[in-house]
Amino acid sequence: MRKNVIAGNWKMNKVLTEANEFVEETVSKAPTNDKVEAIVCAPFPFLASLVEKTKGSSVKIGAQNMHFEESGAFTGEVSPVMLKDLGVTHVVLGHSERRELFAETDEIVNKKTHAAFDHGLIPIVCCGETLEQREANETKSHVETQIKAALKGLSEKQVAETIIAYEPIWAIGTGKTASSADANEVCAHIRNVVKAVTSQEIADQVIIQYGGSVKPANVDELLAQSDIDGALVGGASLEAASFLQLVEAGTK
Ligand code: 13P
Repeated sequence: MRKNVIAGNWKMNKVLTEANEFVEETVSKAPTNDKVEAIVCAPFPFLASLVEKTKGSSVKIGAQNMHFEESGAFTGEVSPVMLKDLGVTHVVLGHSERRELFAETDEIVNKKTHAAFDHGLIPIVCCGETLEQREANETKSHVETQIKAALKGLSEKQVAETIIAYEPIWAIGTGKTASSADANEVCAHIRNVVKAVTSQEIADQVIIQYGGSVKPANVDELLAQSDIDGALVGGASLEAASFLQLVEAGTK
């Protein structure tokens, strides 16, 4: 039985005091239930403090990006070694904003996915189509290409541990959510892609999240779908009360 993984992606929001307050409230109120896992993916400057504040709790702290190299002359970059050393457990990779605005390619996402596993971090690998691709009926082929590229060269065990987030780009920050049936259809397709590159057993284990305007009002319907195992949430993860409602929904 797969659990629900609810991950907040704060993107470039908050200052340290706000981040600390959010996490204090979340830690004190988050349900401890083995059906759900709560992860807060925060900007780099807050990570050390947030890891400290979540020690001994069920809430995990993730980063939103990292470089694939361990160290070196990469001004402005953050390495997997640094994240692991801080106590960060997860890292979002290949978010559409990084692909679109920072020229991240499938090849880079694959290198980062390997680097995450090499350093004991769990990658949350994002995929998703543009509105143009959806209208041209290219959604499935596009996410298939992205996922095959991201998982290339991983062991079966690593694939099983990878969290995949399906985020249609047209649904991010727009208030437009894919219908739960459409979201489930693509997540089921992704699971089939995982099966094709590994096995049914691995495909049955892999966590596949939906992301794109997830909020307390629509989360139950999304999580009730057969192939949706959680959510990657932007806007509705910025307030502790609404993030907690999403985590609560994951316990059902
Ligand atoms: P919203 O939930 O704000 O649509 O953002 C989704 C997202 O990009 C999460 O990574």
